[in-house]
Amino acid sequence: MILRCENLGWRVRRKEIVSNASLSMNEGEMLGLIGPNGSGKSTLLRMLAGVRYPSTGRVYLGGTPMAELRQRDIAQKLALVEQHADTEERITVREAVELGRTPFLSVLQPWSHEDEAIVLHAIAAVDLHGFENRNWHTLSGGERQRVQIARALAQQPQVLLLDEPTNHLDIKHQLAILQLVKELPITKVVALHDLNQAMICDRICVMHSGRIETLGAPCEILTEERLMKTFGVCGHFMTDPFDGSPVIRFHRAHKED
Ligand SMILES: Nc1ncnc2c1ncn2[C@@H]1O[C@H](COP(=O)(O)OP(=O)(O)OP(=O)(O)O)[C@@H](O)[C@H]1O
Ligand SMILES: [Mg+2]
Repeated sequence: MILRCENLGWRVRRKEIVSNASLSMNEGEMLGLIGPNGSGKSTLLRMLAGVRYPSTGRVYLGGTPMAELRQRDIAQKLALVEQHADTEERITVREAVELGRTPFLSVLQPWSHEDEAIVLHAIAAVDLHGFENRNWHTLSGGERQRVQIARALAQQPQVLLLDEPTNHLDIKHQLAILQLVKELPITKVVALHDLNQAMICDRICVMHSGRIETLGAPCEILTEERLMKTFGVCGHFMTDPFDGSPVIRFHRAHKED
């Protein structure tokens, strides 16, 4: 199993931010991580990526405890795009994406034509062809986000963790990035706020108050009861006349609900 965690927890100043989180990823699936603000999605993703050391429990990457792996070994298998990803000011788009190849370079394995091709392919995949020589600090929020995704793609990981990858993107790029991620033949965990977009996932994991509340197929998980219980909103399911897929329309809950 490529990625799994057992009883993961993270505490800060005696406050439990994430508790008792256990997950086993299926090979090649896209798992959506949903939950209200502050429910622990980013914290869980950072622990799964080996960026945040858990207070309790373990993460296993390719069967090996993450704590026993070097950063370079982790980066050869797993890529994380953080929610507020930033990078140094004086860097071009191409240089930012080239960072994705760092875990594979060494004295014996210097930069090659293949690395070059992977970087250009990643830039094209996020529709940033022509931006290669632009400075990072001149990019818009959505363009920066797409560069970070390209950097992760250039890493050619077996596991891709994305924290709200569409939050700055225009609608065309939101749909394109989600489809691109969905079609990658690797294991993906994606934190999302748009529950209609989350329906594209193979499974959905719902977080609430630092705990995994439930996990399963989107149509089993996203019910009117769940929307009220976890998010405190009324949701009505409709059928998209275009393709027959379910669509949720949201309403604020009345006080007495
Ligand atoms: N270093 C920290 N010190 C104190 N509290 C923290 C720290 N990091 C996170 N928290 C708290 O932990 C909770 C979970 O944060 P996290 O960023 O994981 O939530 P999230 O589900 O990703 O939320 P969002 O949807 O807003 O991105 C929040 O209440 C946050 O304020
Ligand atoms: Mg978050």
